[in-house]
Amino acid sequence: MSVLIKNGRIVTAAADYIADIFIEGETISTIGKDLKVSADKTIDAGGKLVFPGGIDPHTHLDLPFMGTYSSDNFETGTRAALFGGTTSVIDFVIQSQGKPMQAAVEEWHKKADGNAFGDYGFHIAVTDFNPDSCAEIKDLIEYGITSFKVFMAYKGALMIDDEQMIGIMNEVRKHNGLVSVHATNGDMIDFLVKKHRAEGKLEPLYHYLSQPEITEIEASGRFIDIANYTGVACLIVHMASGGALDKVREATKRNQRIFVETCPQYLLLDASVYEKENFEAAKWVMSPPIREKKDQATLWAGLNQGLVNFVGTDHCPFFMKQKRMGEKDFTKIPNGAPGIEHRIELLYSEGVRKGRISLNKFVEITSTNAAKVFGMFPRKGCIAIGADADLIIFDPDEKHTISAKTHHHNCDYSSYEGWQVTGKCKTVLMRGQVAIENDEIKIDKGYGQFVKRGPSSLVI
Ligand code: URP
Ligand code: ZN
Ligand code: ZN
Repeated sequence: MSVLIKNGRIVTAAADYIADIFIEGETISTIGKDLKVSADKTIDAGGKLVFPGGIDPHTHLDLPFMGTYSSDNFETGTRAALFGGTTSVIDFVIQSQGKPMQAAVEEWHKKADGNAFGDYGFHIAVTDFNPDSCAEIKDLIEYGITSFKVFMAYKGALMIDDEQMIGIMNEVRKHNGLVSVHATNGDMIDFLVKKHRAEGKLEPLYHYLSQPEITEIEASGRFIDIANYTGVACLIVHMASGGALDKVREATKRNQRIFVETCPQYLLLDASVYEKENFEAAKWVMSPPIREKKDQATLWAGLNQGLVNFVGTDHCPFFMKQKRMGEKDFTKIPNGAPGIEHRIELLYSEGVRKGRISLNKFVEITSTNAAKVFGMFPRKGCIAIGADADLIIFDPDEKHTISAKTHHHNCDYSSYEGWQVTGKCKTVLMRGQVAIENDEIKIDKGYGQFVKRGPSSLVI
C-alpha cells in the first residue's frame, strides 16, 4: 500500500514548509515538491497542516484503581486517541505489591495486544521495591520498558518511601533508564484528609483542599534533590503548580537536567471547578488537583522556556456512577478524568490560536519531545524519511464544540463540555494506513502494536 499526501504544510518541531509526502508500507519514503510518483491513494492536503502523529505519554487504560477500573480500555481509549490525532500512547503498568513487575507487564499485554487501534508503549510503576524487583529492572529496560514511575503519595496503596526511591534510582541509572514521579507529599495529604474527615468536611472540594500547592512543592523538591544525589535521569509527571516548577528552575542553576510533563487540565482549568455544586466537582477530582490561574500562566511560560517539555493527558476516566462511590466521602472518589481525545485540538486552539505557543512548539510538546525523552525518536515524533508514517492532516480553521454527546471516550462527561475549539484533526494516518477519515475509524482493532523503547535521546 502506498499513499501520496500532496501540498500539505508540513510542520515539525523544527521546520515549516509546503511539500508532498510519499508513504510506502508503514514508513515515509520520500518528501519533496511536486513528487511524480504513482500511489494507491492520493490525499489532497492543500490548505491543511500536516503534523507528526501525537504521542500521549501518560494514560491509564483499563486501570484497576480505588476499587474500580478506569472506563476506557485499550480498544476504546486508543480509538478515541486516534480521533484526536494521537497515534501512540504510553500507558502505566502498575506492579501489584508482593508480585513481580513482569507479572504486571504480562497482564498489561493481555489488555492491549489485539485490542489497541493505535501503538502503545509501557512505563512501569514500581510499588514494591525489594531485591527481586530490583533484579528485574535491567531486563525490563532491555525489553523496551525504559521508564519507571514512583508514587510519593497514595499512602497505603501505591506510595513508596525515600529509601526505596533511592534504590530504584540507583538501579535505573546503572541501566540508562528514567525515573518519573507522582510528586506530592503523601504524609501531608494524609494529615489533611484526616483533619477534614474529623471536621465532617467530606465534599469533593476537600479533595482539593487536602492537596495544597505546598504538598506538590515539597515532594518535587525532595525528588529532584534525591535524583541529583543518585545521578539518575528524572521526570516529574502531571505537574500542576508554579511552585513545583520553581524547584525545577532552581535545580537548573546547579546544571541538573530534569524533564517535566504537564497536562491540558492544568494549563486550561482552574480550581473554581471545585466550587460546583451537587457533586459535579467530582468530575475534576484528580491528583494533583487543578490549581490557580497563576499556575496556568507559569506552566505556559515553562513550556516556552523549555522547562516543561511535553503535555500528556493523564487520561484516567470514570463514569459519574463510579465517581459516586465517593458521594459521602471525597477520599472514595476515583481520582482521574478523561482527556485523551482532545489534547491536540485544545492545545492548538488555546495554545497556537491564542498566541501562547508557536506552531513548532506545539509539535514539540504534543509529539517530538515525548518521542525523544522516552526513546521513540526518530521512529516516531517527526516527519522524516524512514520514520513511521503516523501523521495528522489538520484543518486549522474548522470550528467545533467538545461534548460528551459526540466524544469517543467511554465516559459520560467531558472535562471541557461546551468548549468551542478552532482546528480539527481531519485525516489521521497510523503507520501508513488511513486510520481516521470523514469522522470514521478506518482500521481494525488490533492494528496497534507494542513499541519497544530505547534509552532517551535527550539524556547524555
Ligand atoms: O488522578 C489521577 N492522576 N489519576 C491517575 C493516577 C495518577 O496519579 O497518575
Ligand atoms: Zn500520578
Ligand atoms: Zn497518571
